[in-house]
Amino acid sequence: MSRVLVTGGTGYIGSHTVVELQNAGFDVVIVDNLSNSNIDVLDGIERITGKRPPFEQTDCNDKEAMESVFVRYPDICAVIHFAASKAVGESVEQPLKYYRNNIGSLLTLLELMKAHKVENIVFSSSCTVYGQPDILPVTEEAPIKPALSPYGNTKQINEEIIRDAAYADKTLHAILRRYFNPIGAHPTAYIGELPNGVPQNLLPFITQTAAGIRKELKVFGNDYNTPDGSCIRDYINVVDLAKAHVVAVKRMLDRKADTQVEVFNLGTGRGLSVLELLNTFMKVTGVNVPYQITGRREGDIEKVWANPDKANNVLGWKAVETVEDTLASAWKWQQHLMEK
Ligand code: NAD
Ligand code: WQD
Repeated sequence: MSRVLVTGGTGYIGSHTVVELQNAGFDVVIVDNLSNSNIDVLDGIERITGKRPPFEQTDCNDKEAMESVFVRYPDICAVIHFAASKAVGESVEQPLKYYRNNIGSLLTLLELMKAHKVENIVFSSSCTVYGQPDILPVTEEAPIKPALSPYGNTKQINEEIIRDAAYADKTLHAILRRYFNPIGAHPTAYIGELPNGVPQNLLPFITQTAAGIRKELKVFGNDYNTPDGSCIRDYINVVDLAKAHVVAVKRMLDRKADTQVEVFNLGTGRGLSVLELLNTFMKVTGVNVPYQITGRREGDIEKVWANPDKANNVLGWKAVETVEDTLASAWKWQQHLMEK
């Protein structure tokens, strides 16, 4: 069977993807420098799949160490590149760290892929490239808007690097995934999201507040042009998202695409407001989450949700998990973390 190199494979989305790849019969090798994840994640993956994935504690920017990974795993047929720094606020304060890490990693990978004749890459991009779209739900044809942060800019630049590299090298094939807002955890609660410090994202903040770790949730604004005044996002279950990566790898290995670089939105097509998500969480779990409405957060997009038709029709993939089950999985994961 073919092996998939998963960079960032001990991270949130990466770990769920490794589970789905192994369940689908793929061999993997994880490369992660553990800058934002924990080695224990391997135990969780092993508990779920019965198989401990090979792991290399390596920085994607370290070309020599990465070269050695390609040499020691000559059966790598595709790369899924999750490894990146992803904190939007930190990227504003430390832009060079973000450009170095997120762009350097991709350049190193693409150079080594060429040298080792690995022709397929799946890249983790983001709906952040659309900014505030003019038309909703947003399709892949929507214009790319100027990035609102260095983090967002690294995603745009990485997409361009991949397009340029594929133009120059007709053997290179890529699938760019524009994720909307991944939430939830594996239903076993053996793996999930591990936020570093105070969570910046909504759902980890909700679960930590529900658990009593945070005093109250701040809802950033209720004066937006939306039905209840709070911002709207497309929250997608992380396992649904992970499964979309297995489909992408198979598609590339089967050479099903008629272009070298394909772009897919990965979302549900359903927009939910902050208050809707919060109220659904409280209803599903029966746990009260104290909150107060505060001012808007700088740089927030008012509303964005995906048109997932292309992924649904071309890939035959669809997000199927309900938001209720997804929120329950996030709460189960939070409880599991507290038992540790
Ligand atoms: P994560 O931080 O949980 O996982 C990223 C992993 O990459 C971490 O385990 C980290 O240790 C590792 N890493 C970072 N830099 C590295 C390097 N130089 N070498 C090796 N390992 C490195 O993040 P995630 O939420 O799983 O996100 C995965 C990818 O998806 C990222 O590229 C992110 O930008 C993108 N994305 C995430 C979201 C989201 O909301 N979670 C949304 C859109 C796009
Ligand atoms: C969701 C909604 C907040 C926290 C970010 C990145 C984006 C992408 C996903 C990677 C917003 C509101 C949040 C809180 C709140 N990542 N909120 N109180 O902003 O859609 O996107 O993560 O590519 O690039 O920018 O996600 O989870 O931070 O916020 O009211 O304590 O929840 O205002 O409306 P966002 P988020």
